[in-house]
Amino acid sequence: MDRLDKIIVSQTEYSRKDVKKLIIQKRILVNNEIASKPEFKVDILKDTIKINDREINFQKFVYLILNKPKGFISATEDKKQKTVLDLVPDKYKNRGLFPAGRLDKDTTGLMLITDDGEFAHNILSPKKHVSKEYEVTLDIPVTEDMRDGFKNGVKLNDGECKLAELIITGKYTCNVILTEGRYHQIKRMFGCFGAKVIELNRVAIGNLRLPIDLKVGDCREVSIEEKNRITERKG
Ligand code: URA
Repeated sequence: MDRLDKIIVSQTEYSRKDVKKLIIQKRILVNNEIASKPEFKVDILKDTIKINDREINFQKFVYLILNKPKGFISATEDKKQKTVLDLVPDKYKNRGLFPAGRLDKDTTGLMLITDDGEFAHNILSPKKHVSKEYEVTLDIPVTEDMRDGFKNGVKLNDGECKLAELIITGKYTCNVILTEGRYHQIKRMFGCFGAKVIELNRVAIGNLRLPIDLKVGDCREVSIEEKNRITERKG
């Protein structure tokens, strides 16, 4: 059971102030009865709430997929810089969404945004082995030394990386698959080979690939089937 105003704020674009006004105007119904106070207790599993005669569809959690552009930081708010939350439609703005994992400001590609902490933990914890795949462009040619080094474990100043797969796709390009996400990990791993990462684009989390029709900067809800694909094992 939760307060009526709290539930409406989390599921809609209305603020607490709006809810107060709507109640005074008798425009909110709980189980078809006019709601009289914002603190009225509601059970989202049993009760129906209507605003202006339209029923609210409750969603416990939201899972968004974003094709992150350059220039946005992986945070929920910042005084100076644009954050990935600035790319989320307004209707989700009261839900307490956060990015499930970080991409650098200049990294692009697949990012998941949610309000489900357990789900985020499950895709981020190295113990859960959910892979992250990146397309990488370097300033120098990719070498077999790099590939073998990634396979055997690169040592960074904060410890040895878990084994990573490097697939050479061109003279300066490769795909890298990791199961952990340390600060600037790919850039630092290539730094050990004297290489600078010029472009970094995440193309997959688990078995969920960045949809080709999701334009850079666009964001939409993931389907149940897509969500399941994130944690399903390859087989
Ligand atoms: N590795 C990096 O160096 N940067 C990212 O944004 C992601 C992985």
